Amino acid sequence: PPTSPEGPGPMTRMLTGDRPTGPLHLGHYFGTLQNRVRLQHSGAEIFVVIADYQVITDRDIADDLLDHTHGLVLDYLAAGIDPARATVFTHSAVPALNQLLLPFLSLVSVAELGRNPTVKDEIAHSRQSAVSGLMFTYPAHQAADILFCKADVVPVGQDQVPHLEVTRTIARRFNDRYGSVFPEPEAMLSAAPVLLGTDGTKMSKSRSNSIPLSATADETAALIRRATTDADRRITYDPSARPGVSGLLQLAALCQDRDPHAVAAEIGDGGAAALKRAVTEAVNTRLAPIRARRAEYARDLSYVREVLHEGNKRANAVAETTLDEVRAAMGGFR
Ligand code: TRP
Repeated sequence: PPTSPEGPGPMTRMLTGDRPTGPLHLGHYFGTLQNRVRLQHSGAEIFVVIADYQVITDRDIADDLLDHTHGLVLDYLAAGIDPARATVFTHSAVPALNQLLLPFLSLVSVAELGRNPTVKDEIAHSRQSAVSGLMFTYPAHQAADILFCKADVVPVGQDQVPHLEVTRTIARRFNDRYGSVFPEPEAMLSAAPVLLGTDGTKMSKSRSNSIPLSATADETAALIRRATTDADRRITYDPSARPGVSGLLQLAALCQDRDPHAVAAEIGDGGAAALKRAVTEAVNTRLAPIRARRAEYARDLSYVREVLHEGNKRANAVAETTLDEVRAAMGGFR
C-alpha cells in the first residue's frame, strides 16, 4: 500500500501510459486518470509514459504525433497530474528502453508472444494488410517501460492485464536467471465499470463514440444528442436490454457519484430527450473545472514542452541506471 512521502519504508512507484493517437475521453478519466491522481495524492511516485512507438503497432504512420502528444500532456495536467511529483515522458526520448527490449525478448518464447489475447484482438481489428513484428513484440517493450523505473503499481484497463502478465513473467525470469533486479508489478484495475460510448458499445478513441475531456460544452451536447437510445419513454437502467439508455445513465451517475437507478428514477417518463438533457448537464458540470484548467494550459504550449523536457530527462537518468544494473547482472555486457 502507498505510504506517505514523510513516512518510513519504501514508497510506491506507479507507472502507466497512453498511446498518443487522440484526446483522452471520459472512459480514460473514470477508468485510469482518477486512479493516477489519487495515487499521486497518497504520496506515490508517478511515471506516465506517452507510448509514441506503440502507435505504429497497428498503423503505418503516426499521424499528428506531436499534436497528440501535447494533447495528452494537457489532459494529464487538467486532470490533476502534478509535474513536480510526476515524470511524464515519451518512449522515443528514452533510448535505454529500447536497449532493455533486447534482453527482455530473450526471456519470452514466440509461442507466449503469439497467444497474448490483447494482441490477437488488435490483429483482428487492424486495418493493416500485414501483421508486423512490432505487433508481437510490443508487450515486451511495454515490459521495459514498466520495469525500467521498477514500478510496483500499474493502473490500467482490463485489456492491459495480459501485458502486465508478460511484464511479470519477464521480471521473474530475469531475477531467476541473473539475480534479483526487478519487482513484479501489480495491475490496478479501476472500480468504475467499463464505460459505454454514445452508440452503446465500449467507449473508445477509435470508434468515434467517445466524449473527449477536451470537448466544449456545446460539442458535448451535440455528441450526446446523437447518442443511440430507444423508443420506450420510461427511462430504466437495464444494461443488457437497453445498452444505449443504460450507458447514458451510467455516465451521468459516474459524473454525479450516484447510482444509475436513482438517475433513471428521477427522469421517469421523460423519454430520451430528458435523459440526454440530464446527461449533458451532468457531464458538463463535472468536466467544467477540468476543461477550464486545460484551456489555461493550452494557451501557451511552452509549459507543456517544458514538462516533457524535464520528464524525459528524469526518465533517461532512471533508465540508464537500470540498464547498467541489468548489464552488470547479466555479466560482461556493456
Ligand atoms: N498499451 C497501452 C495502451 O494501448 C499504453 C501503454 C504503453 C501502457 N506502455 C504502458 C499502459 C505501460 C500501462 C503501462 O493504452
